[in-house]
Amino acid sequence: MKEKISIKDYAGIITEELKKGVLLNTQGEKFNSMLIGWGALGTVWNLPAFTVYVRESRYTKEVLDKTGEFTISIPLGNPDPVINRVCGSLSGRDVDKVESAKLELAAPETNGVPGIRQYPLTIECKVLYSQREELSELPEDIIETFYPESLVGFPEFDMRDPHTAYIGRIVDAYIIK
Ligand SMILES: Cc1cc2nc3c(=O)[nH]c(=O)nc-3n(C[C@H](O)[C@H](O)[C@H](O)COP(=O)(O)O)c2cc1C
Repeated sequence: MKEKISIKDYAGIITEELKKGVLLNTQGEKFNSMLIGWGALGTVWNLPAFTVYVRESRYTKEVLDKTGEFTISIPLGNPDPVINRVCGSLSGRDVDKVESAKLELAAPETNGVPGIRQYPLTIECKVLYSQREELSELPEDIIETFYPESLVGFPEFDMRDPHTAYIGRIVDAYIIK
């Protein structure tokens, strides 16, 4: 069962949970989910929106660019350490995260991307617009911290790849019961 919610009633919880990590789900040939710590709940073009920031190297980016849809899953209560570790460090290119993290999927209501029962606060989105960061236009201290040149050449640590911001129109919001 799903209890529909008004997203503004949960803005505080969403902001707090983002600091610990929430899940960004996509549905390509298979379901995949990655942990995100950056996100923005707000309004754009008079529409309710959730914006996510995805690095070039993520499998999630590949799928998002094809499908234009994502669902955000947020814990109500303590996050599951296995789910956060699997979804925050392994790539959907290499593993099936549904199996590895024992994710229990819940069919979507409006877009085509399932939610996750263990993280029941659910926001379904359809991408309105995406834009890749232009690193040369970012402040120097941000570049040094988040896109350091010094790690180029160390594939596991190479963080030179920019983020793309995906502005998702919120098309549904509910709690999976
Ligand atoms: C706490 C935390 C927050 C993260 N936030 C982001 C984020 O906002 N954007 C991003 O591109 N990667 C972020 N990551 C890294 C991805 O979750 C990680 O690279 C993941 O394995 C990518 O999965 P995928 O290749 O299946 O898309 C974060 C990781 C952690 C541990």
